[in-house]
Amino acid sequence: MTFVIRPYAPQDLPQLYYICLLTGDSGADARALYRDPDLLGHFYAAPYVRFEPDLALVLSDAQGVCGYVLGCRDSQRFADWMEGVWLPPLRRQYPLPSPDDTSRDAALIRLIHQWYLPSRWAQEYPAHLHIDLLPRAQGQGQGRRLMQTFLERLRQLGVPGVHLGVGQRNQRAIAFYQRMGFTLLEAHPWGFEYGMKLCPGSPAS
Ligand SMILES: CC(C)(COP(=O)(O)OP(=O)(O)OC[C@H]1O[C@@H](n2cnc3c(N)ncnc32)[C@H](O)[C@@H]1OP(=O)(O)O)[C@@H](O)C(=O)NCCC(=O)NCCS
Repeated sequence: MTFVIRPYAPQDLPQLYYICLLTGDSGADARALYRDPDLLGHFYAAPYVRFEPDLALVLSDAQGVCGYVLGCRDSQRFADWMEGVWLPPLRRQYPLPSPDDTSRDAALIRLIHQWYLPSRWAQEYPAHLHIDLLPRAQGQGQGRRLMQTFLERLRQLGVPGVHLGVGQRNQRAIAFYQRMGFTLLEAHPWGFEYGMKLCPGSPAS
């Protein structure tokens, strides 16, 4: 199978939503968990390609787009834009659910209504990222290639560091990030934050 990494293009957006949903349950298929298939993508995929499309990379094969790495170089600026531009219309589209609604949709809608704050690690590690590959692309070195290309781009832009969050159930992704050279910054009840310093010119691990 031949895989190609290329810059994101606007026509990729529906597939980004699809990949986000297919990997949205700690790396596994979340389709059965959400009534609204777009909720995950509204929060974890689409805002990145709207805010900083030049940073987004997609992985494609003969069947089409099968992976992505998305992010922002400055998480504080991204958070300001989320509050000012991206989240207000979503909050109108998805009113707060009743407190006794325990569905995954309701949990994500509550997240949309929460004040969007950058990680406390964003000063030291200003960029953050999300990487997701469909099962057919996993375990063949493509995540490493995507990550290395993304980190190289951040270095070229002079970004001093990058952080990310991963759910504690996602042991595969945790192993991947450690293998890629990320170090543990903080453990949370929901999972872990990892970070990497990006000295200009230093090789991606
Ligand atoms: C996590 C993910 C991005 C990793 O990408 P991948 O293409 O499967 O990983 P690669 O094949 O490029 O592996 C890169 C390195 O990580 C290591 N690695 C990957 N998965 C591992 C695992 N489960 N245990 C130990 N090491 C692992 C590989 O051995 C490899 O090391 P090497 O290059 O030194 O041999 C991908 O599996 C994925 O998208 N999963 C579903 C979505 C997801 O969980 N995203 C992260 C959300 S926080």
